[in-house]
Amino acid sequence: PTHRPGHGAVAPGLDWSDDDAVAALHGDMAADRPPTVAAPLLGADPCMPAVAHALFNPARPYEAIGEMAASSARDVAAACHTAAGEAAAWAATPVARRAQMLDNAAALLIARRGALLSLLVREAGKTLPAALAEVREAVDFCHYYARQARQLWPGAAPTPLGPVAAISPWNFPLAIFVGQIAAALAAGNPVLAKPAAETPLIARLATELLHEAGIPRGALQYLPGGGEVGARLSADPHIRGVLFTGSLPAAQAIHAALAAGDPVRPLIAETGGVNAMVVDGSALAEQVVRDALVSAFDSAGQRCSALRLLCLPEETADGIIALLGDAMDELQVGDPAELASDLGPLISHGAKANVEQALQALADQGMRITRAPLAPRDGHFLAPALVEIDAPERLPGEIFGPVLAVLRYRRTELPLLLARLDALGYGLTLGIASRCPSLIKTVTQMVRVGNVYVNRNQIGAVVGHQPFGGERLSGTGPKAGGPWLLWRLVRDADPCALI
Ligand code: NAD
Ligand code: ALA
Repeated sequence: PTHRPGHGAVAPGLDWSDDDAVAALHGDMAADRPPTVAAPLLGADPCMPAVAHALFNPARPYEAIGEMAASSARDVAAACHTAAGEAAAWAATPVARRAQMLDNAAALLIARRGALLSLLVREAGKTLPAALAEVREAVDFCHYYARQARQLWPGAAPTPLGPVAAISPWNFPLAIFVGQIAAALAAGNPVLAKPAAETPLIARLATELLHEAGIPRGALQYLPGGGEVGARLSADPHIRGVLFTGSLPAAQAIHAALAAGDPVRPLIAETGGVNAMVVDGSALAEQVVRDALVSAFDSAGQRCSALRLLCLPEETADGIIALLGDAMDELQVGDPAELASDLGPLISHGAKANVEQALQALADQGMRITRAPLAPRDGHFLAPALVEIDAPERLPGEIFGPVLAVLRYRRTELPLLLARLDALGYGLTLGIASRCPSLIKTVTQMVRVGNVYVNRNQIGAVVGHQPFGGERLSGTGPKAGGPWLLWRLVRDADPCALI
């Protein structure tokens, strides 16, 4: 059914009730073995191999799925040096050839979907429908930036920035990893790609496929590791810009490092949000419940776009909360490899502990918390939670998990509520549930965000159709999958010349 998180609402195109189609998908996954070692892929000769540490399936924490050898300081320095040496050759590579390589990469991603899906499920804890949607998004990013580059620069291409670091999060370990790389390469920049420490295997496979597609090894280097590797990259003097997606504190640290360098280098950052849905009295209760459920709990709430705060008018709040509670009781939390599971695990023990801590802090403030049932099991699973709060400011910021806060408001206080939502400072996604056009307009104008969704769920932006990115604390823009990103990755170019 399409109203269940992860079941069709954000992964259209495959009929999950078609046993043959699902069996074919499982067949691909069983037949295509993914890599089990994530070691750096450098343009120059590799340095001494680093000590590897094991990676575990977040749904089965005793199941080792491979190991990561984190990049050393020497690896980072060598890779940056190589990228600087490669910059002129990659910049001189005709746009049409760069674009062809990205189209080739898209074809290879499709061909290896079995291995990619398997890693999205076992390394990142994604449900199968969410995993399939992510493979598609990675493919879309390759084609989109290839097409964009061809259209924008059919003749001489503008001067690229130079070596760019692409630093990505674990929650879209394929789509965002590939999307950042594709954009930077299309614009003519060599890339130093650093995946999240939680998900280096899928990033390693994606890098191998990009190389197989024709991208030279010096133009795309892979540097697995944690925040310390990202910090070294950001501080390296060869780096001419950083594409970052992740948390606000990490974005701020990178910003400071780039600003301290000479020259001051640009940061393109996409971070998190405290995303609200504003419901008015004209909205259909069942639709609100369906959209809120998908928005809050798909991917176990581990989406930057996820709904965090549902604002309900007093006159319909009781009914909607009751329906929501019933619907949450039906959610299946379990092994993401099983199609019956609506929510998989959180990415790690630490991530789960952070969410539990935030819930405890809200409970300590007297906020009422209702939790859906959860059968005891190993793995970093969490029961979806509904928290009734009395002010938006109760939220400590982004709670990155399956937690939905609900706030009641009086109709006469709507302008004040909108001002308070805006004052939270974030600006990523906003949902509006209403059948009143003037109210939709008012809410859109008063709460400044990157992506507004009306009478639908507020996750799963589609590359090229719904450019995705936030404002203020949620990001610098330009949006991913939108027309302006490539312009930020080149110098001395004037997009207005095209208008
Ligand atoms: P994170 O900030 O912990 O890590 C993101 C990446 O930054 C990782 O590769 C990490 O190793 C690296 N990193 C961490 N500290 C760094 C530092 N000081 N210098 C350089 N690199 C550093 O985020 P996460 O936990 O991986 O991802 C979840 C966060 O990402 C959430 O806040 C979520 O909202 C956000 N997110 C945003 C978007 C978006 O498009 N706006 C998309 C997905 C995730
Ligand atoms: N682009 C992802 C979404 O829209 C984060 O949910």
